[in-house]
Amino acid sequence: MAKILVTGGLGFIGSHTVVELVNAGYDPVIVDDLSNSNAKILNQLAKIIGYKPAFYQLNLCNEQGVKELAKNEPNITGIIHFAAFKAVGESVQFPLKYYRNNLYSLLNVLNVYDSKPVNFVFSSSCTVYGQPDSLPVTEDAPVKSAESPYGNTKQIAEEMLKDMSAAGSNYKIIALRYFNPVGAHETALIGELPIGVPQNLVPFITQTAIGKRQKITVFGNDYNTPDGSCIRDYIHVVDLAKAHVAALKLMETKGFTGYDVFNIGTGKGSSVLEVIKAFEQTTGIKLAYTIGPRRDGDIEKVWGDVTKSKNVLKWKTELDLDTMMQSAWEWEKYIAQNPL
Ligand code: WQD
Repeated sequence: MAKILVTGGLGFIGSHTVVELVNAGYDPVIVDDLSNSNAKILNQLAKIIGYKPAFYQLNLCNEQGVKELAKNEPNITGIIHFAAFKAVGESVQFPLKYYRNNLYSLLNVLNVYDSKPVNFVFSSSCTVYGQPDSLPVTEDAPVKSAESPYGNTKQIAEEMLKDMSAAGSNYKIIALRYFNPVGAHETALIGELPIGVPQNLVPFITQTAIGKRQKITVFGNDYNTPDGSCIRDYIHVVDLAKAHVAALKLMETKGFTGYDVFNIGTGKGSSVLEVIKAFEQTTGIKLAYTIGPRRDGDIEKVWGDVTKSKNVLKWKTELDLDTMMQSAWEWEKYIAQNPL
């Protein structure tokens, strides 16, 4: 079976991708420094896929450690690189921490496998678009100056990968620009594990529903949108995970060379208030929320044009907003009963 290195593989998106890799007949090898994940996710994964995948606890900024990893795992045919810090607000407070971690770790991984024909999938983000001039946003939309050091690390990383490819690297490279990943696996055995007070909307909703949080603050209802609240393209994390398998498959086909980038979203926008309503209708739980001031750094509205993903990546989403809400809720209830 083709061995795929999954950096950050115990994280929210990483763990769901490990499941889909196994479902597709790959052999995932997880690398994670556990700075934003939990080693017990390995046991959870074993309950889903039937075995504990190979796991290395390693900070990819440790150059020597990455070289040793490559010696231990010489037969890697693909790499899916999730490992990065991703809290926008924190990146504004501690920019150097973000530039060092997100870029130095990427450089180390690229260096050790550069001499082999490896398929490289990079975890990028719709953050690179900023507030697009027109919607839905296509992959050739101008990349705007980043709204945060986090977003800038994604832009710089994409430039690095493009330049490598243009220089004739052995890597085949695909960057996936995620919109807003939410939800959880249908088994409710893996899901989002925010540390402390959740920054993101959906974990805050589920923690409010279960009573861990008093109420949700809707950050602004005076935007130029139908109900005044911000619009995002929320995508089920399992659909997102499957996009990584599709990217590997595309790079394994003869016709693919070099570098390409794809929007990974539903192509549909939902407002904050619509998400709250979808959660209430799907679960039957009334949510307490108030309207508060806008949050610094938020863009007003963004959703992706996913035509290229459908036609070239041969991938599209299958799960709807209600399923995203239901699965997120099932996971919240599970983790409340079974803390890791
Ligand atoms: C969504 C909407 C908030 C919390 C994040 C990351 C970004 C990317 C995608 C990785 C916004 C509103 C939120 C709350 C609210 N991840 N909100 N009350 O900011 O679109 O993007 O996920 O690449 O880097 O930042 O997601 O879930 O934080 O916010 O009203 O308590 O929900 O204002 O409009 P965001 P989010």
